[in-house]
Amino acid sequence: MSDVVLPDDPDFGPDVQVGYPGYRATRWRAPGRPLATLPEELHDAAGPVFGGGDVDPLDADLTRRHDGEPLGERIVVSGRVLDEDGRPVRGALVEIWQANAAGRYRHEVDRHPAPLDPNFSGAGRCLTGADGGYRFTTVKPGAYPWQNHPNAWRPAHIHFSVFGRLFTQRLVTQMYFPGDPLFPYDPILNAVRDPRARALLVAGFDPGTTEPEWALGFRWDIVLGGRAATPTEES
Ligand SMILES: [Fe+2]
Repeated sequence: MSDVVLPDDPDFGPDVQVGYPGYRATRWRAPGRPLATLPEELHDAAGPVFGGGDVDPLDADLTRRHDGEPLGERIVVSGRVLDEDGRPVRGALVEIWQANAAGRYRHEVDRHPAPLDPNFSGAGRCLTGADGGYRFTTVKPGAYPWQNHPNAWRPAHIHFSVFGRLFTQRLVTQMYFPGDPLFPYDPILNAVRDPRARALLVAGFDPGTTEPEWALGFRWDIVLGGRAATPTEES
């Protein structure tokens, strides 16, 4: 992702990932005081625990949640959840949410003038398999405007959440699509200051999972720790 350059903005200071000035809402979301330590018993509280019976395989296909098919470019997004040693994390709950192909969320606060799609809700989930693998069928989300700064548009992205075995183990991040021209202008992506770390948020186009006459394939691994760790919103 060598095409990413930072905006010429004096607020882009040294390595900052939370409370990032270019991303206005971090003013309210980033901690303003030292973090509190949770009681020990919460560290040990197991759950939520999901099993194969709780998650329907259809939950991973966002194109089959309604009577008709959603409009847009059908895609398959797959990858693996790996720990810091590259070992697969099996049985992890992976959840996604996204805008439709027109860049509109089915959410009451999204009122920008792009159409809702009656055949697309924009949420899905699955459990990782023995190899740590996950796989979703969906449509490519559109770019959408937001009011962070004048003429601000988000690059196309899919929100991801990964749950572990404990209440305290949840990671939230975003996956991007390769070659998006909006990368240099997006304060959320550029809040991740290290270009190598930003590159870890961009999926790769994958001919191997592209299905003939059906869907383009994109691959994206989620690494939970170590030098190749996927940046998350808690980082
Ligand atoms: Fe979003």
